[in-house]
Amino acid sequence: MKKTEKRDLMAPLTELLGIQYPILQGAMAHIARCPLVGAVSEAGGLGIIAAGGLSGTELREQIRKTQQQTKKPFAVNLMLQMPNIAEQVEILIEEDVKIVTTGAGTPKPYMEVLKQARVKVFPVVPSVKLAQKMEQLGADGVIAEGMEAGGHIGETTTMTLLPQVTQAVKIPVIAAGGIGDGRGLAAAFALGAQGIQLGTAFLTAMECPIHENYRQAIIQADVTATTVIRNQAGGALRGLKNALTEAYLEEPTKDVFSLAALKRAADDGEIQQGMVMAGQVAGLLTEVRSAQEIIETIYKEAVAISRNSGIK
Ligand SMILES: Cc1cc2nc3c(=O)[nH]c(=O)nc-3n(C[C@H](O)[C@H](O)[C@H](O)COP(=O)(O)O)c2cc1C
Repeated sequence: MKKTEKRDLMAPLTELLGIQYPILQGAMAHIARCPLVGAVSEAGGLGIIAAGGLSGTELREQIRKTQQQTKKPFAVNLMLQMPNIAEQVEILIEEDVKIVTTGAGTPKPYMEVLKQARVKVFPVVPSVKLAQKMEQLGADGVIAEGMEAGGHIGETTTMTLLPQVTQAVKIPVIAAGGIGDGRGLAAAFALGAQGIQLGTAFLTAMECPIHENYRQAIIQADVTATTVIRNQAGGALRGLKNALTEAYLEEPTKDVFSLAALKRAADDGEIQQGMVMAGQVAGLLTEVRSAQEIIETIYKEAVAISRNSGIK
């Protein structure tokens, strides 16, 4: 192993990513665009553009707009089953994006070209096995996501997945799923993570470009407000219980899993007939704040907890 590689491996996550706080804004298809991404990065976290569903031109535009909004690092999330994935990889390299997170498949076909361009790669993983596989592939870290999360999910909870992943790999692990305040950050660190990724909490950020009905539905939700919709292909999607998810239980349709169903909620504010993707942590989120306030409050709370933990 070369000296520089070793140093990178040992560096805390914040140093590795060039960010101030170990807090990532999870990619959210159709939602995680420049207004939110730029605000999170500007506040010292890591904003992540969701490339899923974007054409090459749209992705380039999102990257350039974010670069205008902030000079700080941000990332692009690649959904690997997208038909234009090869083009998206080319574009993010051309546009000098230096951090990538990946979901829905293996980044193996793109690993070499990303590494050559010195892009750091952080796959999202739902299991220990996949985390180990990603480490072997040369990933710079993994995001271990529990099934409390909003959106597409695996089968294990963050509480059980995280300590098993951090035990199994040497690369940095970021915890995702069910985190909404400083207690969650402190817990993630206690279980061996070096950082956290939040999706649902950033849906409540004032900069998040979603319909106000969507944001308010998250604010009003309690801990039992979400449900998981499953399809025959083994896919599972968590969102708020509503008329659409009730109807799905009676008669499954492909529509619920489509981007169109999410757009109905996110763009048109159709809280009953749209797919309101959100995680179980929604019950903890009771107010609309700026991305900066969310990040700084979480960090301060976590620091206070670790100081006052009483563990000697
Ligand atoms: C509305 C929504 C859309 C999402 N879309 C994506 C996506 O496109 N790609 C991805 O890797 N993760 C996606 N996720 C997962 C988030 O990036 C993040 O890992 C997850 O929300 C963390 O759990 P939490 O919701 O409990 O904070 C999505 C989550 C939500 C709530």
